[in-house]
Amino acid sequence: MSLFQVPDIEAWGITLNTGHVEWITICLAFCGLFFVAELRADGLPSEGSTARSTKGMVVTVSRPASEVGRDILNAGGNAVDAAVAVGFALTVTWPEAGNVGGGGFMLVHPPGRAPTFFDYRESAPAAATVDMFVNERTSQYPLVGVPGTVRGLQLAHQRYGKLSWQTLVQPSVKLAREGIEVSEELAGSLNGVLKADPNNEELQRVFKPSSGRNQWQAGDRLVQPDLAETLQTIALDGADAFYTGKLAARLEAEMKRGGGLITVADLSNYRARERVPVHGVYRGYDVYSSPPPSSGGTVLVEMLNIAERFDLRREGRWSSQTLHVMIESMRLAYLDRARHLGDPDFNSIPTHLTTKEYAQKLTDSISLTNATASAELGADILTVTEREHTTHFSIIDQYGMAVSNTYTLEDSFGSRIVVRGAGYLLNNEMGDFNPKPGVTSNKGLIGTKANLVAPAKRMLSSMTPTIVAKNGRPVLITGSPGGRTIINTVFCVALNVLEFDMPIRDAVDAPRFHHAWMPDNVHMEPALLSEHAAEISSLRQMGHAIDSRPVRQGDAHSISITGEGDHIGAADGRRHGWAAGQ
Ligand code: DON
Repeated sequence: MSLFQVPDIEAWGITLNTGHVEWITICLAFCGLFFVAELRADGLPSEGSTARSTKGMVVTVSRPASEVGRDILNAGGNAVDAAVAVGFALTVTWPEAGNVGGGGFMLVHPPGRAPTFFDYRESAPAAATVDMFVNERTSQYPLVGVPGTVRGLQLAHQRYGKLSWQTLVQPSVKLAREGIEVSEELAGSLNGVLKADPNNEELQRVFKPSSGRNQWQAGDRLVQPDLAETLQTIALDGADAFYTGKLAARLEAEMKRGGGLITVADLSNYRARERVPVHGVYRGYDVYSSPPPSSGGTVLVEMLNIAERFDLRREGRWSSQTLHVMIESMRLAYLDRARHLGDPDFNSIPTHLTTKEYAQKLTDSISLTNATASAELGADILTVTEREHTTHFSIIDQYGMAVSNTYTLEDSFGSRIVVRGAGYLLNNEMGDFNPKPGVTSNKGLIGTKANLVAPAKRMLSSMTPTIVAKNGRPVLITGSPGGRTIINTVFCVALNVLEFDMPIRDAVDAPRFHHAWMPDNVHMEPALLSEHAAEISSLRQMGHAIDSRPVRQGDAHSISITGEGDHIGAADGRRHGWAAGQ
């Protein structure tokens, strides 16, 4: 059974049954604009909204942020303008991952031109040392990397923006100053962090419930006056205010308070970088994604290249053969991730990883009947046997410019350090470096050289903002949070669309799974285990160790572009989200 919700109409307080709603949906579809959210009977998502438009489309985790992006498109901005505005808006509306105190990656596909990539990953401060994380840390302060988001948004804006910087930051100032209505999802997120860190005075002060109760509830108002001031300074004085001006001094003072390493010099030395995206071809589709210092694009293309050697469509999406090939592709590509990938300014990254010849060699090593043992495969780097927050958004404008952006504070609410008086959270991204030189374990700890800590180095990421194009035009924009699971989430969504022709709504909703070479097991979303029990049993017989994921995998807010030029936005119901069409 499928139920339909039309959120705008629900908000008017009218009770609708399925028949009413389908009727309304058809009417709205005839008007060329509709929002539908499908609830699956199997308990999987989605309450993620779907929207269709022949003009612009913005899909993010948060309705007010998606609407800021859509308003910017309506005001004549392009997809990069909308992305910059959304980047700031999510800082206000989705504080667990939206940020000015973190970093990320933005992939841009301008119409008629080659895609480009903005790397605004955090970097290690000058005082960082290779062994700084060898012992367990009790403080979050040393885990804070030099934030890159404001410089990254500035660089993307300088290259492609049409509207003024101030126009793009101002909506966020307003949201922070006047407040936003708290959704159920946001209430849960805020309650979670307040409960987890009761002694963090600044966090408690900034995010305490406005109602006077000790819990946030849907419908409450979140007002953030300190953050409004910070954003106003960035709006008026530009990105330099954050890196060299008074905001930089504030961040340094916060670091000094808790024993963090970042100085004003680290901030003024930080640069966002424009890089060439990783490019692969899957059955005639051009796949563009993140280059190092993310592992995402390289691993994704390596997996797609292997998958392409098989006729997965004939096998069927959920057959044990398809699942086996996907798992083995994940295992092989994640081993290369562990072995080779890190900041390209500090490593020479092998160029063969994304070639078809290399994929053929890897394919030849795959047994069709047995799971490979990860430990044997990576015996040269495995030394010890022992024992997910981020957000993605996708945008396309009416002229066909596409943006795929994933950015993060690392953990949910990052380090949970709020810069005193400035109202924003700092990342704990230094945790993405390999902490113990030489120590790689079967639990997934990696100690290879490419991603060891060094001053000014960028820590290896898995973020995989991706755009797939056909004949120079985007057909799919996707990406996800989820730490190391991100690349596999994008792999699943991309194969669902490119190999199995699923409509984007189904491609996003379909259950996902994850294998990362180490630990040597497959984490599956519960629906996969329950809906395909016979296939899972075959996989177990082949030697795969399979368990159920405790949490859902990823949050892939995606857009597909049809041959008729329709832009279909599919928010991922795993974290709700909102698709806002122009
Ligand atoms: O850059 C990375 O790969 C990680 N820091 C991302 C963290 C993440 O996705 C956590 N989220 N759920």
